Parts: sequence; C-alpha cells; structure tokens
Amino acid sequence: MTIIVTGGAGFIGSNFIFHLMSAHSEDRVICVDKLTYAGNLSTLASVLGKPNFRFCKVDICDREAVYALFEEEHPDIVVNFAAESHVDRSIEDPGIFLQTNILGTSVLMDACRKYSIRRYHQVSTDEVYGDLPLERPDLFFTEATPIHTSSPYSSSKASADLLVLAYHRTYGLPVSISRCSNNYGPYHFPEKLIPLMIINALHDKPLPVYGEGLNVRDWLYVEDHCKAIDLVIRKGRVGEVYNIGGHNEMRNIDIVKLICKELNKPESLITYVSDRKGHDLRYAIDPTKIHQELGWLPETKFADGIKRTIKWYLEHQDWWEPIMNGEYTQYYEKMYGSR
Ligand code: NAD
Ligand code: TYD
Repeated sequence: MTIIVTGGAGFIGSNFIFHLMSAHSEDRVICVDKLTYAGNLSTLASVLGKPNFRFCKVDICDREAVYALFEEEHPDIVVNFAAESHVDRSIEDPGIFLQTNILGTSVLMDACRKYSIRRYHQVSTDEVYGDLPLERPDLFFTEATPIHTSSPYSSSKASADLLVLAYHRTYGLPVSISRCSNNYGPYHFPEKLIPLMIINALHDKPLPVYGEGLNVRDWLYVEDHCKAIDLVIRKGRVGEVYNIGGHNEMRNIDIVKLICKELNKPESLITYVSDRKGHDLRYAIDPTKIHQELGWLPETKFADGIKRTIKWYLEHQDWWEPIMNGEYTQYYEKMYGSR
C-alpha cells in the first residue's frame, strides 16, 4: 500500500511515520510537509534514505502540487496530520489556521475524490468538543458530544471535521476521523507545555504557568496515539469518528511540579503568568468506542512516559537547540515578554 502522511515532519506525524515504517515495512510512505516553523526535516533523518520512503515539500493548500503528487503516486490511504497546531498562535493570528486546517483539508479531499482513494483519515482533536467543568469529573467527551469550540485553533479543526463528514455524505468519500487528547513524547515542539517546561527548567529559566495552573488535560503518550490511528485506518469503519485518550487527566501545575522533581529543579522556578484568553478548563476523553470496536488500549503509563520523554530531551539537545536559537526566540519574547 502507498500511504501519504501529511504533516509528517511535525511531532505526531513523524512519530506516526516511524511507527508505520517499523510495523508495516511492506508499505510505501510518502511524507507531505510544507516545513513551517513546526516542521523539521532533521526529525526524519533516520528514514530519509529508505527505499520505501519519500519526502515531498508541498503545502497542502497548493492544489496543483497536491494533484501532481497524487497523479504520480496514486496513494491508497491519506492520513492528514498537517495543521497549524498551537492554540496561543491561533489567538494571536487566526488566518493561517483557517487556510491550512480548513482549506488544506478540502484540497486534500478533492484530490482523494479525483484519484479514488481507499481511505482519507483526518487527525482531529478533543478540543473540538470545547471544555468540561472542573467540578464535574464524572463528565467525558464521547463521539456524540456536540461540537462546541473555544479557540480559533479548535474552531478550524472542527470546521475541517464537518467538511470531512460532508464529503463522506455528499460524495461518498471513504473517510474516518480520530479525535485525540493531548499528546506528549519525543519531537514535541518546544512551544507546547511539556517540552517548554523541560527545556526552561534545564536552563533554570522561569516556568510560565497560565492562570493558577488548575486547567486539566488528558495526556497520552504519542506512540499510543499512532497505534490507534493505524488501527482506525486499517480496521475502523468508514464514515465514523473515534475518540482516543487514556483516562490520564492531570492539572497543569502538577505536571510542571513533576518535571521540576524529575530534573531536580526548585519549584521556585514556577511563575504564574496571565491566563490564556478563552482558556479551556478541562478535556477528558471517553475512549470506549475505539476500545470496544478495535481493541485499542493505551500501553504507556504517564509515570513511565514522562520519564522517557524527559530522558529523550536530555539526550537530544542537538534536535531542540537549533530550534531555540531560531524564530522561536522572537516568538518567546512576543508571547511571554510582558505576560
Ligand atoms: P505540529 O505543529 O508539531 O506539526 C504540524 C506539521 O504540519 C509540521 O510539520 C508543519 O510543517 C506541517 N504543516 C503545517 N502547515 C502545513 C501545510 N499547509 N502543508 C503541509 N504541511 C503543513 O503538530 P502536531 O502536534 O504533530 O499535531 C499533528 C496533528 O494532530 C494536527 O492536526 C493536530 O491538530 C492534531 N492533534 C494534536 C494533538 C497534540 O497534542 N499535539 C492532539 C490531538 C490532535
Ligand atoms: P498546550 O501544550 O499549548 O496544549 P493545549 O492548549 O492544546 O491543551 O497547553 C497545555 C496546557 O498548558 C494548557 O492548559 C495551557 C497550559 N500552558 C501553560 O500553563 N503555560 C505555557 O507556557 C503553555 C505553552 C501552556
């Protein structure tokens, strides 16, 4: 099979490519990535020379380039990870989120229709469901929870999900959607909570916790997410949405304190800064459907996954140091300078 993975030079997409290349060495994998600030070709160094792997620097919004690639490769499956993914950036400047996350998705699906693809899979997020109240730990997002978004990022992802389901109903495109909770693990871009706190702590820099740090996220080790998507594209039902999450809810402040402990750094580095606008309180996934239909369960416990992740950042400074010295410096100053 030929599988196109878009956004494969980013965090989850690259981990998904590594999973595919080791679990299904008979498949041909084509990574399509625009290499935005979040995409990093060096991440894919270990697979770049493999005969069943190809990298194409293409913007998913570029219809001509996307069609030309489909004409050449006639893929069987497309898995769309390509997106602008950071909520804080979407609050600063929503435009590119609408462009890539919505229009890019429609361009990819148009190509899938034209070239009669076997499966188009949309990698979505639990953020499309909005948030849950902190004082109702009994509530979880199911696939039937109404879409109710908070940020430009989540709104763009929800819009894409609606388009995907519309292409299925209107054109009969064989689609599936997965909505996952927060991921963590290797190659996570340092603007996101866990890698940002690890790297700042290593430099003895302040650890900027938004508001009081009481917001709750449901953390899943990235490999578990990749295995779930692999199951959905091969065995999941067409036209269906699958929630992915591991019932691992943590408050932000507890994660930051844990990182301090693991790195033997003082909690006095923690600095409370002004809250994110529209900050979602709690995300919590009910993964019953994917468990019952496809037998998926998370394999990595948070206590192990976070240790593995911290170790990875300690051993891969050569990956994150060039990022920290580039455009990221201006980003950090803009977002945190006067917060
Ligand atoms: P990321 O920001 O690390 O990577 C995004 C990748 O997409 C980058 O390589 C970037 O270069 C590429 N890209 C951006 N715009 C593009 C375009 N127009 N054309 C081609 N490539 C483009 O993101 P991530 O954290 O790996 O997330 C991947 C997907 O998973 C996203 O769709 C995101 O919404 C979803 N998701 C993420 C999480 C999470 O916790 N990170 C959780 C649930 C769902
Ligand atoms: P993030 O990693 O941006 O993921 P998301 O917003 O998609 O869940 O943020 C995770 C949580 O951590 C979120 O509640 C915001 C909070 N946060 C901070 O407190 N400080 C930070 O510097 C960042 C980046 C996030």
